[in-house]
Parts: sequence; C-alpha cells; structure tokens
Amino acid sequence: MTTQITLLTADNWMDYELLDSGDGQKLERFGKYVFVRPEVQAIWKKHLPLEHWQAAHAVFQPSGEESGGHWLFNLKVPERWLMNYANIKFWAQTTPGRHLGVFPEGAAHWDWMSGLIKSSSKPVHVLNLFGYTGLATLAAAEAGATVTHVDASKKAITWARENQILSGLQERPIRWIVDDALKFVLREARRGVKYHGLIVDPPKFGRGPKGEIWEVYKSLPVLLDACRLLLDQKPVFAVLTVYAVKASSVHVRTVLEEMLGDFSGSFDSGELVTRESNANRLLSSAVYARWDNKKSR
Ligand SMILES: C[S@@+](CC[C@H](N)C(=O)[O-])C[C@H]1O[C@@H](n2cnc3c(N)ncnc32)[C@H](O)[C@@H]1O
Repeated sequence: MTTQITLLTADNWMDYELLDSGDGQKLERFGKYVFVRPEVQAIWKKHLPLEHWQAAHAVFQPSGEESGGHWLFNLKVPERWLMNYANIKFWAQTTPGRHLGVFPEGAAHWDWMSGLIKSSSKPVHVLNLFGYTGLATLAAAEAGATVTHVDASKKAITWARENQILSGLQERPIRWIVDDALKFVLREARRGVKYHGLIVDPPKFGRGPKGEIWEVYKSLPVLLDACRLLLDQKPVFAVLTVYAVKASSVHVRTVLEEMLGDFSGSFDSGELVTRESNANRLLSSAVYARWDNKKSR
C-alpha cells in the first residue's frame, strides 16, 4: 500500500511572491515591498544575482533567539500597507517576530475550505484556533460560514478585526476570542458547543494570555483530544498545519486520523510549499493533514 504525500502550493497570489531563496535566507515580495528573511531550510545557493537581494526594502536580522531580532530598513516602508487575496483585504506590516501579518502558503487551505463551505448543504460553524490576523477566518466567513476565531494575542485579534472591516465582512457572524486555545476548547466542550469545521494552525512554541505554555509536541495531542469533543456528528472538514521543522506529515496525519477515524470521508497530507517565481524551486514551510466529508478520491 502506498500513501501519497501532496505538495500543496498556493497558486492564486498576485500580492505575494517568493522571488528567490538560498544560503539560509528567502527573498519575498509582499505587495510592492521586498524583504529578506532568514530561512534555515534554504540550504542551496541563491539563484538571483546579489543586486536583487541588495535592492530589498528591508532585511530581518535574527538575534539568535527562537524568533527574535529586528528589521534593518534600506528603503522606506510604510508602517502598514494594503494587500489582498481573492476577496480578502488585509494589512501587512513588519513585526519584531519577523512575520508580516500573513502566512501566504496557507492560502491553499483557504481555497479548499471555502469550496467545502460553499458546497455544504447545511450551515457550517467553523472553529479557527491560533487564528493570528484572521485570514483563514475571513476566507471561511466570506464563503458563508459562522466562525469562532481564537488567539492568545489581543494585538493579533485587533489586527484581524481591522482586516474584517477592510474586507467589507463586518456583517458576517464572527466571534473574536482572546484566550488560550486549549482552555477555550475545554470550556466549549463543557458547554456542549459543536462545530462542523476545524482549523488548527499552532506555532511551535506559544503562550496563552495568562502565560499558559504551548509546546507543539506536548500540547497538540491534548488539544486534539479536546477538539474531538467539539465536532458535530457530521463534520465538514478539519485541517491541521504544523510549522515545526522536525514534524513529519506522516505523523500529523496519524494524529488527525486517530481523531477523525470514525467518520467516513477522505484524508490528505503533505507539505505546504511555495514555488519560487525565478528558479521554479520549491520551498517547504509546514506539514499538514486534512480531512473532508467527501468520499475517498
Ligand atoms: C503560527 S501563527 C498562526 C498562523 C495563522 N493561523 C495564519 O494562517 O496566518 C501563531 C498564532 O498563535 C497564537 N498563539 C500562540 N500560543 C497560543 C495559545 N496558547 N492559545 C491561543 N493562541 C496562541 C499567537 O498569538 C499567533 O497569533
């Protein structure tokens, strides 16, 4: 028996582009602005001539800690600027944690779940855990779902609400919740709330609003056990994405199969990859597993 590994690319971006990678860095365009960020997995050589890299607006200088560091600006960049993906509009901004308000490779999941929500014959209630600036939430809401969005960071939720207004989705049913993902899920389980769609996109390490520690290998199995209690009898989809470099898509799939094995439907799993626009090479960002209620393909 063979299990296929899918390499999922987000092919519908106009406002984002991976221009080049190599020598431990990546060169990316976010709207009109070009950035150099560290990418330890880019162990190959840069493809574009050095002038392209030197022309970047800003370079992120890591401090040696997990995600700390600072930006060095070569050219002027506004405090924040507008980007869009399909009908979703959002603010992009350089942050001290090296991110810019969007994980572009995730768009492959947004398209997939939007399709499932639109083709569902019943209303879909989605739970988005670790929702960050809300782009997956807005994609689901735009497709017609009622969404509960949970993130530990008040700042991220404020940003997400601004993105909701920018996208013209302020009338859509979205609950924005600042909480620890596990605590929230346990509370919802006690209340008997049920969801048809589940998005779990955790960081490697994180902290809840009251300092609750999130460590993906230790915390994820506990969280998924609790999430199982929240699933409706007839769920529509579940997607789990893990950015920890050492994770295997085989293992992420195993834990999702364990959670959803009783439901009929289909799984797929693999890596979220971005194709360079210049050298056509693939850069992998995360591993994922996902399930939907459609029959096995
Ligand atoms: C990797 S980002 C998620 C990416 C995002 N879902 C996307 O697709 O753009 C991590 C997010 O998890 C949040 N976070 C970290 N620890 C948390 C916890 N214990 N409970 C809830 N959210 C947490 C952070 O505030 C951050 O917004």
